Amino acid sequence: MSDNFEKDINDRPIGVFDSGLGGLTVVAELMKRFPSEKIVYLGDNARVPYGTRSPETVRKYAWNCSNFLVKKGLKLLVVACNTASAMAIDSLEEGLDIPVLGVIKAGARSAVNMSRNGKIGVLATGGTVNSGAYIKEIGLLKPSARVVQNAAPLLVPLVEEGWIEGEVPALAVKRYLEPIIKNDVDLLLLGCTHYPILRKVIDQELINLKSKAVVVDSATSMADDVGNILNEKNIARDTSKEGSLDCYSTDLPFSFEELATLFLGKKPSSFQKVDII
Ligand code: DGL
Repeated sequence: MSDNFEKDINDRPIGVFDSGLGGLTVVAELMKRFPSEKIVYLGDNARVPYGTRSPETVRKYAWNCSNFLVKKGLKLLVVACNTASAMAIDSLEEGLDIPVLGVIKAGARSAVNMSRNGKIGVLATGGTVNSGAYIKEIGLLKPSARVVQNAAPLLVPLVEEGWIEGEVPALAVKRYLEPIIKNDVDLLLLGCTHYPILRKVIDQELINLKSKAVVVDSATSMADDVGNILNEKNIARDTSKEGSLDCYSTDLPFSFEELATLFLGKKPSSFQKVDII
């Protein structure tokens, strides 16, 4: 039995986890769209980044995070980390008895719906790119689509440093975008929770590269999927109730609060440090 088991399924929280604080971009969108929902967030800051680790390790970490959150009595689990979604979503869906939503499927669907020419660019971590998860999901939805992906390993540390403007991020973004853009993509999917924070730089570099590609991030598509499942399963919380956000992290590093505020768009109420292993 979970810690805070709520009898009425509609009143149970939605659990969201990420390798670190990037998933707060998804939480911000969920709070905006579903202000009555209770959200429990876990950032695995002690072990970020996931993007450079092996699939076995990421699966193990994803299970540690999920087991911690499930004990909070969830009605729905959102895997906000692209890397964890790429490597662990099948295992989590199979092993858990609540609905599990991952950002890869959500992002792939938005990309397919929004691309006109079927040429889709994906910018993601090395782990997500190597997993081929976006190619697989997009291919399932639209077999004729062409996916051009590129790993952008420097973007996560830049965002974690708060270095999100100026010539350094601009040059890194340019280098990562060039090989994608020259393939005439009309849609660019930001396949990492950290990248929406670099949105201004990305938009500017697309202009500089004379690309008209539409940019899609995982947060918006994920919120669409959450809305669908709340309706389909009839598990949305009463809209007259006030929502809440409880935040946990496996570490509280230096400049943590500043970074959390950057991702969430406002100061989070409080973060509790937890041990999940
Ligand atoms: N949250 C991860 C993702 O969306 C990015 C950071 C990491 O590498 O852990 O892929």
